[in-house]
Amino acid sequence: MDLIDEAAAAEHRQQEDCEAAAVDAALALLRRRLLCGSAATLLLPNSQTNRRKLLEALTNTIIQGCSTSMLLIGPRGCGKSLVLDQVLEALQKSYPERVSVVRLNGLLHANDRCAMKEIAKQMCMEHALTFSKGASFEENLHFLTCVVRECARSHRTMIFVLDEFDLFAQRSKQSLLYNLLDLMQSSSSQAALIGVSSRLDADQLLEKRVRSRFSHCKLLFLPPSTDDIFSLYDRLFLLPVNQCSHWQKFSEDFKEKASVVLQQGSVKQLVDEFMSMEVSGQRCVDLLFRALCELNPQSGHISPAQFKVASANLTPQPKLEILTDVSVLELCLLVAMYRLEAREVESYNFNTVFKEYKRLEEHNTCDVYSKQCALRAFEHLLERELIVFKDSSGLGNMLEVRPIKLLVSRHEIDKGLEGNISCPTILRQWRTHETIK
Ligand SMILES: Nc1ncnc2c1ncn2[C@@H]1O[C@H](COP(=O)(O)OP(=O)(O)OP(=O)(O)O)[C@@H](O)[C@H]1O
Ligand SMILES: [Mg+2]
Repeated sequence: MDLIDEAAAAEHRQQEDCEAAAVDAALALLRRRLLCGSAATLLLPNSQTNRRKLLEALTNTIIQGCSTSMLLIGPRGCGKSLVLDQVLEALQKSYPERVSVVRLNGLLHANDRCAMKEIAKQMCMEHALTFSKGASFEENLHFLTCVVRECARSHRTMIFVLDEFDLFAQRSKQSLLYNLLDLMQSSSSQAALIGVSSRLDADQLLEKRVRSRFSHCKLLFLPPSTDDIFSLYDRLFLLPVNQCSHWQKFSEDFKEKASVVLQQGSVKQLVDEFMSMEVSGQRCVDLLFRALCELNPQSGHISPAQFKVASANLTPQPKLEILTDVSVLELCLLVAMYRLEAREVESYNFNTVFKEYKRLEEHNTCDVYSKQCALRAFEHLLERELIVFKDSSGLGNMLEVRPIKLLVSRHEIDKGLEGNISCPTILRQWRTHETIK
């Protein structure tokens, strides 16, 4: 009997070890996916279309020898660099020896002279030539023209990538952009200029002579929708198939449970709120990574609580924390100010706010505070920077008459009222029903 028990316990232990190993392996794999850019292989729909268009345009340049220029525009973290890098990699694989890439960044190459120098430097490296450090802008431009022509003769395409394109466009004379685009007009060159920018009006910054040489071809990268993100998460949770039966069972289980979690209303709402603050592919990948870091190795499965912690970690909200422990009177004043702003009262001061607050007292459901007391609470709000004086005018005036403004949003006030345990119900109603007098 003892022997049988021992064997069963050993088998149980072995099973537990296998399960723990599967959790570890799955976590390591998912983290690697998220950190090493494997999310990139699962491009969101808009990025996929842009990838196809960019690949087509550059392939045309390589095959037909017609120069082109293009702008990739979209908010930060929306996959512009990701798509561009993928396309360049694919081209270099498909057409080895026929593509040369020169990369510049408006932040790094702070003026056109140093940008031109960098072009010459990268070209020298690519073609194993000696780089002359002391060459002037004109000399480097001449060198660039010669190299581009030589490349075109051997059917080699030069691709110039200008990241933070708008910064190049904000320089006086825009000489780098002018010379590059002018070079592309020539029939003896085979080149492409790809500008990348998070400014939607980047092409509007171009001077007339530069704009006339630009192709006006723009690829717009849209921020992902919540549905896009959920489908990305879904695909990321798909673990690879393996011979081991433990792993097989675990990976199927993991995917199934993750899908259930992703369909929960609370998780959808949380991701929605998270994305309403800042939408970018990168941020959503960060959110999932943080959620996975919170995963309990014992359970081995993702849960809504982990998303909640991840979102709270990624979006620290100091104002919300302050709001949860301000006094009831301070909350009343904030709501009074909120109501004034909702009614589009252009300018208000403490006296106006106190008058609005007095309306709440008429309901006889709140404690009554004197004006002196309210003024003290008002000062407290100023100290905590939940409100500020609108401008420095009336600096010498009494506190009560200086115009003020709120530094907390409607969303923060709502959350603050929700989280503050001493907040009376009437105050929440007063906030939501602007018609309650
Ligand atoms: N469309 C997408 N599909 C999959 N992952 C994405 C997507 N967009 C962004 N990401 C993730 O965000 C990371 C950062 O994206 P990327 O660097 O391409 O943004 P960007 O648009 O170039 O931003 P910036 O304007 O700041 O340079 C990517 O490495 C990837 O992990
Ligand atoms: Mg980028």
